Amino acid sequence: MYVPAPVGAVRRVGIVYDGTRPNPRWLSPMHLKRSDDHHHGPPIVPITFHLEDPEGLTGTEKKEWTVMGGEGESLLEVAIDNGINIEHACGGVCACSTCHVYVERGMDQVTEATESEEDRVEEAPGLRRSSRLSCQCEIKGTGPIVVRVPAWNRNAVKEIPH
Ligand code: FES
Repeated sequence: MYVPAPVGAVRRVGIVYDGTRPNPRWLSPMHLKRSDDHHHGPPIVPITFHLEDPEGLTGTEKKEWTVMGGEGESLLEVAIDNGINIEHACGGVCACSTCHVYVERGMDQVTEATESEEDRVEEAPGLRRSSRLSCQCEIKGTGPIVVRVPAWNRNAVKEIPH
């Protein structure tokens, strides 16, 4: 459902929105930047998502989802395509940290973090060694991959009047 952005600036996850561009909170998953410009392998890589807030992410009580992804797809794309609505305030361009996840298994099955991802993920609450931005992790192996989606990402995107 489209909800118009409020008048006036709002701040979200340290980013100030001044009304000159859409507030990402009102973007639908349709606006996710996809890695369609390069080859995706067949969906043969098993990825298990452990959801700390399954109701908020999927509208269900189901905490564990095992889905299939393909080489070249990001973990965020795979999640969104399977109805797991991980926040992605910037649309998947490494400009926020709302898509923060923990890669608990299979870190060597996804692309390494770039310097810009490392800088950005430091803004995420609950940082761990396994922290990654799911929009920047592209599948490069055959899995399996296990990902935990923390609950606080959703809580971190409440607007604060500016
Ligand atoms: Fe913004 Fe991943 S969606 S960094």
